[in-house]
Amino acid sequence: MSKKMFYAVILFYLQPVDAVESVSVLEGDSVALNSGFTEMMDDDLILWRFGAENTSIAQINVMAGSMTAYDDVLDERFRDRLKLDNQTGSLIITNTTTEHTGLYKLLTNSVSKNFSLTVYARLPVPVISSNSSQCSSSSSSQQNCSLVCSVVNVGHVTLSWYKGNSLLSSISVSDLSISLSLPLEVEYQDNNTYSCVLNNPISNQTRHLDISQLCHTCSDVAAQFPYLPPVFLIMLISAAGSLLIITAVGIFCICRKHRKTDQEVQAREEEITYADPTFYKRKAQKSNVKEEEDVVYAGVVTRR
Ligand SMILES: *[C@@H]1O[C@H](CO)[C@@H](O)[C@H](O)[C@H]1NC(C)=O
Ligand SMILES: *[C@@H]1O[C@H](CO)[C@@H](O)[C@H](O)[C@H]1NC(C)=O
Ligand SMILES: *[C@@H]1O[C@H](CO)[C@@H](O)[C@H](O)[C@H]1NC(C)=O
Ligand SMILES: *[C@@H]1O[C@H](CO)[C@@H](O)[C@H](O)[C@H]1NC(C)=O
Ligand SMILES: *[C@@H]1O[C@H](CO)[C@@H](O)[C@H](O)[C@H]1NC(C)=O
Ligand SMILES: *[C@@H]1O[C@H](CO)[C@@H](O)[C@H](O)[C@H]1NC(C)=O
Ligand SMILES: *[C@@H]1O[C@H](CO)[C@@H](O)[C@H](O)[C@H]1NC(C)=O
Repeated sequence: MSKKMFYAVILFYLQPVDAVESVSVLEGDSVALNSGFTEMMDDDLILWRFGAENTSIAQINVMAGSMTAYDDVLDERFRDRLKLDNQTGSLIITNTTTEHTGLYKLLTNSVSKNFSLTVYARLPVPVISSNSSQCSSSSSSQQNCSLVCSVVNVGHVTLSWYKGNSLLSSISVSDLSISLSLPLEVEYQDNNTYSCVLNNPISNQTRHLDISQLCHTCSDVAAQFPYLPPVFLIMLISAAGSLLIITAVGIFCICRKHRKTDQEVQAREEEITYADPTFYKRKAQKSNVKEEEDVVYAGVVTRR
């Protein structure tokens, strides 16, 4: 027998001894902890106990024909919420709150049974908001919109983004009362199939994303805010700029012509003074380099 099988057999025999019946309910709903009896025996004394303190919350004495719910115990959290089924002895908790979460024990002369009750809080609908402070340049059509889905004061939940039926991302938390947020990048032109889902093990809440409402392109923004520079103003600035460039280029060409004549004069002088031809060549190259530097400089000026 393998070690794994050995432990599996041990577990099989241990499990029924500590069996706990798990019961889940949504806050505000009623829940029945089933005794499993079809009917109560005459000699039955049935006790319902709750929590780590083993507090008595209900008692049925079949012989005496009495059924009592001690709903004033434990900060009155059970006040007017306990009922007993007179056929089976099952405990019914109405209008549950998360304070009813815990371990419940059924004890009779012959039987004991444990229940683990979890009461889940009702979930809020998550909120989707835009996390883009401004629109990006309208030159590219592939713009993205930054979104955030968020919830406040939740515990034991998972928050997820879906596109259609496929999960994109999710975040889980086991603490009580925490705020969660989950980001998402979508394209402005994308289809409206995104949704943000908040769920616990027994319920969920969904918010569908309306891209056209939350994501604005730059042109949308311009349409909404007419005080932004209108198109004709931009055209005017462009025209003025072009004129400036043409003027600057014209001036540059004139300067260049002047310098050429100067250089020719200088070169002739050098030819006369220095007969060595290699020296002359070097001088000429140097003045060419200087000219190129001027070109670059002129270019910078025109762009300003
Ligand atoms: C119920 O839980 C208690 C501990 O709280 C344990 O001692 C007892 O054996 C359990 N009973 C059953 C039937 O599992
Ligand atoms: C709870 O109280 C019942 C009845 O008094 C007792 O039989 C049982 O052993 C107690 N359980 C614990 C865990 O204290
Ligand atoms: C349920 O309990 C809440 C308090 O937790 C109370 O405000 C509400 O009135 C109750 N509802 C019913 C139907 O008893
Ligand atoms: C919003 O976006 C900025 C960066 O663009 C990021 O630092 C911030 O964490 C985002 N907010 C949320 C709630 O995701
Ligand atoms: C834009 O979003 C898509 C997903 O919708 C993503 O694949 C892409 O990388 C994002 N681009 C940028 C620049 O964030
Ligand atoms: C949007 O949906 C249409 C059909 O419904 C599809 O043809 C198109 O490719 C989708 N666009 C995107 C960006 O998913
Ligand atoms: C949300 O709950 C409904 C039933 O109430 C279920 O059909 C659906 O699959 C759940 N959705 C998710 C994403 O858990």
